[in-house]
Amino acid sequence: MTSPDRLVSRRFANIASTTPFQLTWDYLRDIDYENRRLEPGVLDFSFGDPRTMPPETYVGALHDAVTPRNASWFAYTWYEPAAQEAAAASLARLTGLPFEPADMLLTNGGFAALTVGMKLVADPGDEVVYSLPPWFCYEPMAVEAGLTPVKVSVDRDTLDLDVAAIAASITPRTRIVIVNSPNNPTGRVYSPEILTRLGGVLADASARHGRPIFILSDEPYNRIVFSGERFRTPAEFYPYTLIAYSYGKTLLAPGQRIGYLALPPTLPGREALREAALPLQIAVGYAFPNAAMLHALPELEKQSIDVAALERRRDMMVDGLTEMGYEVHRPQGTFYLFPRSPMEDDAFARSLADRGVLVLPGTVFETPGFFRICLTATDEMCERALPTFAAAIENAKAPAISG
Ligand SMILES: Cc1ncc(COP(=O)(O)O)c(C=O)c1O
Repeated sequence: MTSPDRLVSRRFANIASTTPFQLTWDYLRDIDYENRRLEPGVLDFSFGDPRTMPPETYVGALHDAVTPRNASWFAYTWYEPAAQEAAAASLARLTGLPFEPADMLLTNGGFAALTVGMKLVADPGDEVVYSLPPWFCYEPMAVEAGLTPVKVSVDRDTLDLDVAAIAASITPRTRIVIVNSPNNPTGRVYSPEILTRLGGVLADASARHGRPIFILSDEPYNRIVFSGERFRTPAEFYPYTLIAYSYGKTLLAPGQRIGYLALPPTLPGREALREAALPLQIAVGYAFPNAAMLHALPELEKQSIDVAALERRRDMMVDGLTEMGYEVHRPQGTFYLFPRSPMEDDAFARSLADRGVLVLPGTVFETPGFFRICLTATDEMCERALPTFAAAIENAKAPAISG
């Protein structure tokens, strides 16, 4: 009889043992997340999923897209030209860069855009640098691609990129620096000054080591930016930038998979990357969106969640938490708040879970001393949770009773 550990590949074992997967699964198992989240009265702020019925306009666009207009409506489809044109025009409006439709490499979501981006320019053994707290999947995806993750902390006071720390982490094997702005989980939108400094560091290091270092700009939240802020893509500041985008956030429909990897018009030699992308997308397991999502894309480009309502919810939560004594940055974009936790380990998130409010502790983002609240919850959930946040911080601050 073959033992189970001889059945699965070493590749899988390596992925499963990556830090964020381990930490997240351990935490969710410990708090019995799968059952707790369904208990009546429990308020779940753990992940960026929708909590209300999808808007009729969104559903209408999907209905329309599954109504065939010709015999090849559901044929194998890679990059539908109408979809590429709509995506290029929209990204050009957002960034001011004249993206070409042919450079919009449509994928089944941000996950696929990131994996195609990594495998397009990096070889096994190359290093990929990213900042902590990270999105959970950078490490497993890098490991799966045979790349070595190199982690650098953000500045813990400002939650901004620590450009000096990134510079110090670069070696001759560095091939990719992932930049995620607006950032999950900090909500930070990186400024032109920071991106200019990062571009300078990478240009110098690329020249020193004799090959370009790429920025893989992970921007699924680039439309979820609050008033007074402006998103700037790293592509404006550094030519060797690949942009990964997902429609799952702007439309709050992450299960409907569509996104793209975009090659900016300023990227030297992008024709070679454009040509390499198609066979790569096939080879990694058909990383293309399904035909209906491609047909829907021009209409979906016109739609968005209500960002103003999200901003009001952000303000209600930030003001409420601050009044209770939490230290919390006012996020400039995204769905997330990343307050400081009154405790370094994940005991505080567990104490909230015991009281029926589910959040993720900073430990799962390899950044102890913080916790993440996801604002895709409804206003009503937020209002009901505030007294629990108040009781939990009071309890954490109360001196332990001894004797
Ligand atoms: C920072 C970041 N990048 C990429 C993704 C992947 O997006 P999608 O699931 O829409 O492909 C997510 C989703 O949570 C994310 O937060």
